[in-house]
Amino acid sequence: MKKILGLLLTMTILATLLVAPAYAQEQTVINMFYGTDPTGALTQIIKAFEEAYPQYKINWVEAPASQDTSHDMLVTSLAAGESVYDVFSCNVIWPAEFSQAGYCLAIDRFLEADDIDLDAYSQGYVNAYTFQGKMWGMPWYGNVGQLYYRTDIIDTPPATWDEMIEMAKAHVGEGGTSVGYLMQAAQYEGLVCNALEFIGSFGGTVVDGDGNITINNDGVRNALNMMKKIVDAGIVPENFNAFMENECQNMFGNGDAVFMRTWPGYYATAVNPESSKVAENVGVTVLPAGDNGSAATLGGWGWMINRNSEHPEAAWDFIKFVTGPEGQKINALVASQPPTYMALYDDEEVLAANPHFANMKESLAAAMARPVSPIYTALSEIMQINISAVLLGNMTVEDAVVTMEQQMNEKLSEYNR
Ligand code: GLC
Repeated sequence: MKKILGLLLTMTILATLLVAPAYAQEQTVINMFYGTDPTGALTQIIKAFEEAYPQYKINWVEAPASQDTSHDMLVTSLAAGESVYDVFSCNVIWPAEFSQAGYCLAIDRFLEADDIDLDAYSQGYVNAYTFQGKMWGMPWYGNVGQLYYRTDIIDTPPATWDEMIEMAKAHVGEGGTSVGYLMQAAQYEGLVCNALEFIGSFGGTVVDGDGNITINNDGVRNALNMMKKIVDAGIVPENFNAFMENECQNMFGNGDAVFMRTWPGYYATAVNPESSKVAENVGVTVLPAGDNGSAATLGGWGWMINRNSEHPEAAWDFIKFVTGPEGQKINALVASQPPTYMALYDDEEVLAANPHFANMKESLAAAMARPVSPIYTALSEIMQINISAVLLGNMTVEDAVVTMEQQMNEKLSEYNR
């Protein structure tokens, strides 16, 4: 009996050794760099990908929450020619910089080989990932700034920034709230996204189509004055300059705020009673208007392949899946992020889960792109520093506008030298 048992055991071990590791040996590990996944959407996409492509295994290296820190971590690694990340998510503002610096692979040959129809994607995003005639990344989700508000406190959301200030002052304290308005005002890229919305709503510009710096204009002055007015109205948290997306969203979800500016991807978390105390009372609408209407900044993320990846084909297979209809549908349903694969805006299930996608196609098309430039990061940093100084009361709007113009022109001429 013992012998038979022993033999059976040996056979089982042998069988496992022969069959099970066969995959393991062939599996290619794809090292992927991406931030946190609060709704679990990307985790689900990866599961579906690994089922569809059993030859691959994703190794997820978690990126920091701030897009600026992620950017710097990536750039340090890519500039050193490392191949530690095969594939990484890429902010819509990075393609010019990353392609010029030689950090990423052009994906045109993959698109052609797999016959990917780019017309099925949002043209704004296809353009955003195109630089000097080549495509450097594949669009994943789109983003536009939106106004979130508490439907148990506010019946009709404010049409203008001034109205928003008045309503915030009048209603703060109701429904357990302690602040009127939340914006991303820490000194980082999110502040630039918020500021550009004010700038757009007052008809201001930063850079023109030819790349000239145009920031010294009255639209920008009026926009910065309005931002300062909001801070001085006492409707923002005292430490407002420490607020990025997560801080705002946590506070809103905790029931502390009447209004908040953030991205569509917060919706799924906001209406989920497990993650939000105001799940029943979330309204989403367009941002308030200045004297030039309402404006939203175009955000969004795509995927790129590291130029030094040892597995570019595998990285592409992942990108194709995550940005394809199946990956984007999971992302829209679970993470409430706006697809860039446009047919999903006709998908009943996607629309039912995302009331805040009403007019999303139009909003994406109308949204303001940030300046397309290989030195965008430097231009943004100039805005971050000077606008922060204005909001903290350390600089006048006039000085900030003149300083930004001068510093941006210096950066441009340094780059062109
Ligand atoms: C969002 C946007 C991105 C933007 C960032 C700022 O992630 O999609 O484009 O740069 O927020 O924090």
